[in-house]
Amino acid sequence: MILKDKVAVVTGASRGIGKAIAATFAREGATVFICGRKQETLDAVAQELGPGIVPVACHVGRNEDIARLVERAGAVDILVNNAATNIAQGSCLGFDDVQFDKMVEVNLKSVYRLVRALAPGMCERGSGSIINIASVAGLKPQPESLLYSMTKAALIMMTRSYALEFGPKGVRANAIAPGLIQTQLSEYFWKDESKRGMFMDRQVIKHLGQPQEIASIALMLASDQASYLTGQTVTVDGGFMLM
Ligand SMILES: NC(=O)c1ccc[n+]([C@@H]2O[C@H](COP(=O)([O-])OP(=O)(O)OC[C@H]3O[C@@H](n4cnc5c(N)ncnc54)[C@H](OP(=O)(O)O)[C@@H]3O)[C@@H](O)[C@H]2O)c1
Repeated sequence: MILKDKVAVVTGASRGIGKAIAATFAREGATVFICGRKQETLDAVAQELGPGIVPVACHVGRNEDIARLVERAGAVDILVNNAATNIAQGSCLGFDDVQFDKMVEVNLKSVYRLVRALAPGMCERGSGSIINIASVAGLKPQPESLLYSMTKAALIMMTRSYALEFGPKGVRANAIAPGLIQTQLSEYFWKDESKRGMFMDRQVIKHLGQPQEIASIALMLASDQASYLTGQTVTVDGGFMLM
């Protein structure tokens, strides 16, 4: 129970990586506020995962939803910014302003707003852990992925900036950069056998990453086991970035 009595917020926890993180934190004793866009879906997740999970509908691109989540959660020790979208792929020259703004709103401004609301309390109490779920796409450009890559790269720099400012007040900030993980978001890359094969050829660990393999690292970053670690991006990609 390494997170006993801790309060966590995990965005985008109705499925995939966020759900695995929420389940892991709750198992370790935390009270976990989970968010996603639909209350019914979150209620079902809370039912499945059991006590310790508090479902609060929140579209992270909407300021009023964020304000409601923050008010419900109260004093938060651990913030996991996991919710993200990838609405547009294609040529670097082909995106319109609406797509650009939406990607920034959901993938970045949400993080800015949540940290702005929750970090002051963490700093005042002298402890806290902020974990931002980035991507290998934020470390290296992927074909047809300008908007997604750019938001994930910016998230890594936000993480480092937070770490620099909040570190002296006892608050750590780290990012995780997952490689290919088997979730709904990435099914275009793993459902088709030939595409999955191309990824496996580029990894030294030859299995498709699972949400729990990200959740284990998030647990370490959330807990005192990472008490001397801040401003880092932990790449969890089966060795994809080695090649
Ligand atoms: N899977 C991969 O291969 C991979 C690789 C690198 C990085 N990542 C990153 O890992 C994180 C989690 O992705 P995933 O693969 O677990 O995706 P996923 O299975 O599609 O889950 C995404 C989660 O985010 C929620 N969400 C989406 N838009 C939202 C919004 N506007 N407001 C609130 N919640 C929202 C979804 O809930 P609702 O739809 O119910 O709202 C869902 O719970 C993302 O940051 C992603 O960029 C994933």
